[in-house]
Amino acid sequence: MFEPSSWDERYSGEGSVWSGKPNAQLVAEASKLTPGTALDVGCGEGGDVVWLAQQGWHVTGADFSAKGLERAATHAQQAGVADRTDWWQVDARTFDAGGRQFDLVTTHFLHPPDGGMVDVARRLAGAVAPGGHLLMVGHEPSAVFTQLSESHRRAMWFAADLVPALPDDFEAVVVEQRPRTMVRDGETVDVRDSTFLARRRP
Ligand SMILES: C[S@@+](CC[C@H](N)C(=O)[O-])C[C@H]1O[C@@H](n2cnc3c(N)ncnc32)[C@H](O)[C@@H]1O
Repeated sequence: MFEPSSWDERYSGEGSVWSGKPNAQLVAEASKLTPGTALDVGCGEGGDVVWLAQQGWHVTGADFSAKGLERAATHAQQAGVADRTDWWQVDARTFDAGGRQFDLVTTHFLHPPDGGMVDVARRLAGAVAPGGHLLMVGHEPSAVFTQLSESHRRAMWFAADLVPALPDDFEAVVVEQRPRTMVRDGETVDVRDSTFLARRRP
């Protein structure tokens, strides 16, 4: 679950792993922004990448799973937005933007082990252009996810956990636990999305 091989295996199976639809907090927040360049880290099969591209963004989808990126590229092709997308195989835990900057850096449901998301937030902030935004959304640690192991639950995080990662030239815009319902194994479950949005000053 924390290494590319297990995700490659998951993305090599029959059918899609995810719905292909954009995530709710991405739609809520990115709809308020002017389209520019975006980076989606942990993009999986590319549901968010495709939606952003359809809104006029030029999007780089990034993931450590080569199989995930293959599926995302196929999804973008089928949706007719391949010309607004490109792909980058990266591990968020060692991510270095190498001077590249984006108007929006986003990540959804990336849960690195052992509280690693604070360091990931610091790394992703380095890829945000002046005046740009960093949007990070994840599952809050919750008893709802009974099927998960203890180490998986420890990898989940609260929005407020990420505030200390912000460099001085950023301001936090949204630090919230947002309620949402999701369907899992045919049942509707109440969850809360840890939602963290920050803006880099121009
Ligand atoms: C739960 S899925 C979410 C996919 C997509 N963001 C979505 O919401 O549909 C997590 C994704 O993050 C990727 N991932 C997990 N750990 C990663 C890491 N350290 N670096 C890059 N990608 C990672 C996995 O390969 C997987 O595609």
